[in-house]
Amino acid sequence: MAGYRYYSRRLKSLTSTPAFQVIGICLCLFLGIQWVLRHNHDEDEAPPRAVAPTRSVEDEGIDWSKLSYVQYVTSPEYLCNALMVWHNIEEIGSRAKRIMIYPSTWDPNEVDEIDLKLTPVARLLQSAVNDYYVQLRPVEVLHQNGTKEETWADSYMKLLAFNLTEFDRVLAIDSDSVVLQNLDELFIIPEAPLAMPYVYWGEPQGWEFSSQMMLIAPSAEAFSNIEEAIQMAGDDEYDMDIINKLYKGKVLKIPQRPYDLLTGEFRRKDHKAWLGSNPEKWDPDTVLSEAKFMHFSDWPIPKPWMRAPRDLLNKHMPKCRQSEWFGATDCRDRTIWLKLYYDFALRRKAVCGPGFELESQELPPDSIYRHGRWFHPDEVG
Ligand SMILES: *[C@@H]1O[C@H](CO)[C@@H](O)[C@H](O)[C@H]1NC(C)=O
Ligand SMILES: *[C@@H]1O[C@H](CO)[C@@H](O)[C@H](O)[C@H]1NC(C)=O
Repeated sequence: MAGYRYYSRRLKSLTSTPAFQVIGICLCLFLGIQWVLRHNHDEDEAPPRAVAPTRSVEDEGIDWSKLSYVQYVTSPEYLCNALMVWHNIEEIGSRAKRIMIYPSTWDPNEVDEIDLKLTPVARLLQSAVNDYYVQLRPVEVLHQNGTKEETWADSYMKLLAFNLTEFDRVLAIDSDSVVLQNLDELFIIPEAPLAMPYVYWGEPQGWEFSSQMMLIAPSAEAFSNIEEAIQMAGDDEYDMDIINKLYKGKVLKIPQRPYDLLTGEFRRKDHKAWLGSNPEKWDPDTVLSEAKFMHFSDWPIPKPWMRAPRDLLNKHMPKCRQSEWFGATDCRDRTIWLKLYYDFALRRKAVCGPGFELESQELPPDSIYRHGRWFHPDEVG
């Protein structure tokens, strides 16, 4: 009994020493912080099935002649964009074939009547074949009544990739993009009728894939279903509505990291959606160096072949961040982002040459003034 009282008194005097209390408080704080760190990110929602290649691109059994990159173009601006992407792919190297779908009304041998040289469009079509080993596929553009012609032509041409039945798989990529690293491994992800990246920058709920990149298993059956859906498409139904109708629940997810980076990511404050649930910090240099494909998307900043008005650029370019140490600012987001646009302009000049200069987004003289603001005549109709 005396022993017990002795020890409890010893314990009480020990726990009341300042050193013990400090250690105790520190321990509690440490455990508390650990707990918060471990629990402060959202629980993962069940993400769409994501995939990774199951074998190496070096595998001898892969028949690369049955695999192809595909781009489609509907306007001279996009023809130049597509050529820039072919240039990326050629520079990096790739094993798969290259196909470009374009309107059959364009003539690859068209000559300017005045100087008897190839027209800019014809020159670029020939350059695709001669410099970048691209096979040209002229197609009739299906016109649809009641829809905005250009948007529909765009949507429709994209879906024609399902008709490339001589290939086992085609990777259709939007041409307002940059291929930063070799994408060949995407051709050997597990079989699926269709694989696309998820719209990671959108709402967390709901079924949404991005058609910026579509890995398609072309087949006569798939294309006839698509053609049928096209025939029945309403005025406001475009490529993604048709894909949604036919492939809901069957699409394999291509991880956005590293396969589908948006330039707009550098303008965001919160990068949780891009980074995923691992507690990693945003580092723009690392993100850019690991990305393999990047899409230009910075609304309201115009696409990179349009010269953005200065005040718009100043207003919407990435903000500098307050760095944690010593209060220095970190402007890497802005520097990288501005360089992406600057490099695009340089590359455009080098790859496409005269006739494809950056366009100005200044409003034309016949602009219309309404509700206290000027509109481009096309906007008002
Ligand atoms: C589109 O309109 C034209 C006449 O403007 C008509 O001849 C054609 O049948 C229409 N096509 C469809 C698919 O409705
Ligand atoms: C689909 O491909 C076939 C065979 O290559 C071709 O004959 C047909 O015109 C194509 N369809 C369209 C709508 O382009």
